[in-house]
Amino acid sequence: MASPAISFQNVSKVFPGVRALDDVSFTIEHGEVHALLGENGAGKSTLLNILHGVYAQYEGSVLIEDIRVSFASPSQAIQAGVAKVHQEINLVPELTVAQNIAMGHEPRKHGLIDYPKMHQDTGAILTKMGCHFSPSAQVKTLSTGEMQMIGIAKALYHNASIISFDEPTTALTNKETEHLFQIIRELKQKGITIIYVSHKLDEIFLIADRATILRDGRLIGTYRIADINKEQLIRSMVGRDVSSYAVRLAPACVQEEELLRVENLRASVFDDISFSLHKGEILGFAGLVGSGRTDIMRAIFGADPIHSGKLYLHGKIAHIRRPEQALAHGIGLLPENRKSQGFVRLMNNADNMGLASLKRFTKWLLINHRKKRENCLHYMDEMGLTPRNPDYLVSDLSGGNQQKVVLAKWLSTGADILIFDEPTKGIDVGAKAEIYRLMESLVAQGKGIIMVSSELPEIIGMSDRVIVMHEGRIAAVLPRAELNEEIILKYAMGE
Ligand SMILES: Nc1ncnc2c1ncn2[C@@H]1O[C@H](COP(=O)(O)OP(=O)(O)OP(=O)(O)O)[C@@H](O)[C@H]1O
Ligand SMILES: [Mg+2]
Repeated sequence: MASPAISFQNVSKVFPGVRALDDVSFTIEHGEVHALLGENGAGKSTLLNILHGVYAQYEGSVLIEDIRVSFASPSQAIQAGVAKVHQEINLVPELTVAQNIAMGHEPRKHGLIDYPKMHQDTGAILTKMGCHFSPSAQVKTLSTGEMQMIGIAKALYHNASIISFDEPTTALTNKETEHLFQIIRELKQKGITIIYVSHKLDEIFLIADRATILRDGRLIGTYRIADINKEQLIRSMVGRDVSSYAVRLAPACVQEEELLRVENLRASVFDDISFSLHKGEILGFAGLVGSGRTDIMRAIFGADPIHSGKLYLHGKIAHIRRPEQALAHGIGLLPENRKSQGFVRLMNNADNMGLASLKRFTKWLLINHRKKRENCLHYMDEMGLTPRNPDYLVSDLSGGNQQKVVLAKWLSTGADILIFDEPTKGIDVGAKAEIYRLMESLVAQGKGIIMVSSELPEIIGMSDRVIVMHEGRIAAVLPRAELNEEIILKYAMGE
């Protein structure tokens, strides 16, 4: 029998206070798409980081083609043909596509970079991948999906035999996702081994051959996708049954009173936006990626300027030009791009959560640290945040748990208008259900929630009303009773 492409043998990794991986052993075959699944903090990214040489210190061994490897850095891994395409794409926006793909390994002629060859080589890869942008385009002019393609092109440029993807589709449109899957299937046909991490289980059933499940750093098992269904997969990940989660369990509680009214809001990317949000309402914002939803939310929050339009809060006109003013008016925004806008990396959990509500924790200019910690523990329990430690640095949390910290930060302010931009992006199934229940309890307390989401099941399952955007304008306002995928997509595509 041929040796496996990768074999993890008794791999353990300990961070201060956390055993991120505990004696994990499994193998990945040549040319398979192997999914790596588990809840937030289960250890998926840590395992990939070990494979790619981000962490050189760990117990156990990693074998590639039966040979023990231990890369000292990601660039060493790439040279050995082990590449990664990660969600946070490390590209230099000012450089061209070709420069980014070839970086560090540019073709040379008489000691100088051979630009014509570099463009030819990288162009050939892009053409094969079905990408329609030029190798001489500046990276900053590309869409997120196109940037993702550069990550893959880079792997191919280095003749990678193993490519890992860590939540690659979170920022992609449906079309870009389809294109990505098409490419992954082609890579697989070439015999390239793929490791695929995602919280979107539907994707797993579309492209994976097998799935390995981790829970709390331990291996639960490896399953053939053909032999397992979604419920079984979820049960192994979470350790219990999670009932269909994107549904309202509590009764609707929309009240007459208007919390927020927007009239004729206009900026460069959207036009003529008018709508209102009621007390106790979950108002969904659907639309394709790039339809202006995030821009509108940032404008309401005072993070981006508007050309014209009016904003009313509790019936009174309000002038919000900066986020601090929005905050003072009781508006909280959970941004789509949490990593750059949501938290301070080198601050601990308790401080991050208290960041937007310092007033509550300050008396006579003194910060009441005990109260801040209590607030932190309260939300840690409410959202199942792990590890349950207020002193943990947010930069050391898993992606999904970082997200919960940002959410807790806004909830701590007691804001009564909450804008959630893609609230469950990167969040595991169990935590998703917890966030939906939290949203229900917030509206039951009389708060209003605007939820921007690209996940149609969540828009349909959770919203009292849905606004569908198309190219910067409101294409439709749909009541709950009329919601279904076809009608939302129809308006979102501008039909
Ligand atoms: N650099 C670090 N320092 C300290 N602890 C860390 C570090 N990186 C990860 N951890 C911890 O190790 C555990 C596993 O984290 P990891 O990022 O691997 O989870 P994950 O499965 O990728 O989760 P997610 O789905 O949320 O991305 C978590 O408890 C996390 O807080
Ligand atoms: Mg991760």
